Amino acid sequence: MVTDTGMVNAFVEGAAELDAATAAMIADRKKLLGPAYRLFYQRPVHFVRGEGAWLYDPEGNAYLDAYNNVTSIGHCHPKVVEAVSRQMATLTTNTRYLHDSVLRYADRLLATMPEGIGHFMFTCTGSDANDLAVRIAQSYTGGQGIIVTETAYHGITQTVAAFSPSLGENVPLGAHVRTVPAPDSYRSATGDVGAEFAAGVQAAIRDLQRHGIKPALFICDGIFSSDGVFDGPAGFLKGAVEAIRVAGGIYIADEVQSGFGRTGDAMWGFQRHGVVPDLVTMGKPMGNGYPVAGVAGRPEVLAEFGRKARYFNTFGGNAVAAEAAMAVLEAIQSEGLVENARETGRYLKDGIQALASLHPCIGDVRGAGLFLGVEIVSDRVAKTPDAAMTTRIVNGLRDERVLISACAKAANVLKIRPPLIFTRDQADILVERLDRVLSRCA
Ligand SMILES: Cc1ncc(COP(=O)(O)O)c(C=O)c1O
Repeated sequence: MVTDTGMVNAFVEGAAELDAATAAMIADRKKLLGPAYRLFYQRPVHFVRGEGAWLYDPEGNAYLDAYNNVTSIGHCHPKVVEAVSRQMATLTTNTRYLHDSVLRYADRLLATMPEGIGHFMFTCTGSDANDLAVRIAQSYTGGQGIIVTETAYHGITQTVAAFSPSLGENVPLGAHVRTVPAPDSYRSATGDVGAEFAAGVQAAIRDLQRHGIKPALFICDGIFSSDGVFDGPAGFLKGAVEAIRVAGGIYIADEVQSGFGRTGDAMWGFQRHGVVPDLVTMGKPMGNGYPVAGVAGRPEVLAEFGRKARYFNTFGGNAVAAEAAMAVLEAIQSEGLVENARETGRYLKDGIQALASLHPCIGDVRGAGLFLGVEIVSDRVAKTPDAAMTTRIVNGLRDERVLISACAKAANVLKIRPPLIFTRDQADILVERLDRVLSRCA
């Protein structure tokens, strides 16, 4: 029996008729990969090639990718392909040998960070980065307590899954973990999202202390992607960050989703809020498909950990990873992709906003840059979440060959996250097909 793992937009066997080839591939996955994997969509998709914002199935059909945040500068970006191939053909070493790639990259990456963030450590995945960040935070603060938002996702290691409530009820949260309501601008009771969010963090701090647990850290995803995409008002993080610091803990900015220009205002999501983190974790888009991730931080926060524990990560910071990451950063900066995320993101948001006057199920359109959330409701006045309609829209778009997904505690927010190279023409295609799907689903 398959239990509900809380995953939004997961393929459910029997929910839709499948063609023979898809059914056979799904059966093989089950046989070979075991029971833990989940696919997207009622009719899962099979891709054999990608280019820019497009993915192609075995028959050569093109799908517009408005979802994947790994190949954030476009599928098979030539600069990354060239850098990885060149370095792979030259040398792959690890951080126990001197090599200049990691140094050049760390230097260039740290130049994008606010003053005070002075070191960078390489990992392989976002989970790996968050796991390391927690070890550093607990070593620095002497505390154990962790505060996250109530539908947060931060990764898959034992430590990190214990503070990733979106993994569902079957994955237990740690006894040292407290959750706080997401900064929900759509349903805010007072209109002051920042004060409400800070009050939630303060309550969590008090509860940890009451149970004899010293707070170590507050961690949040800069765009609250699994919570439902909450971007504003800019600055709302300030009170929460202040609260954790007053309690002796640190603030970790998880930039796995919001980093590398995604939100269009700046390179990093936290910059929209005018806060400087103690640690910053990143991954996914960092290598545009090559696995590379890491933790940036204040030297004084890293000092104690570095004194007590040595750090070696076999593949983290290998020369190929560093070259892939360098090519991505170079492309983001030289091709004006942060600006494009801002401009095309605004254009796309306006286009979707215009659909709201035609389709009453659109309750709210929000997001920053090229990370948008569209809240689907059955009643605009009561703001009643409509998960069933959301599923129909996501799958309807998939049938129109546009890829998006969904998120939020009530599984009713369309998650739209095209590559940073997205064009206005591609935004038009998305809006036009979304309009068609919304009419059909109504
Ligand atoms: C906000 C956030 N943090 C961390 C992770 C974990 O990253 P990875 O899958 O590379 O381990 C994810 C992955 O989806 C994420 O969205």
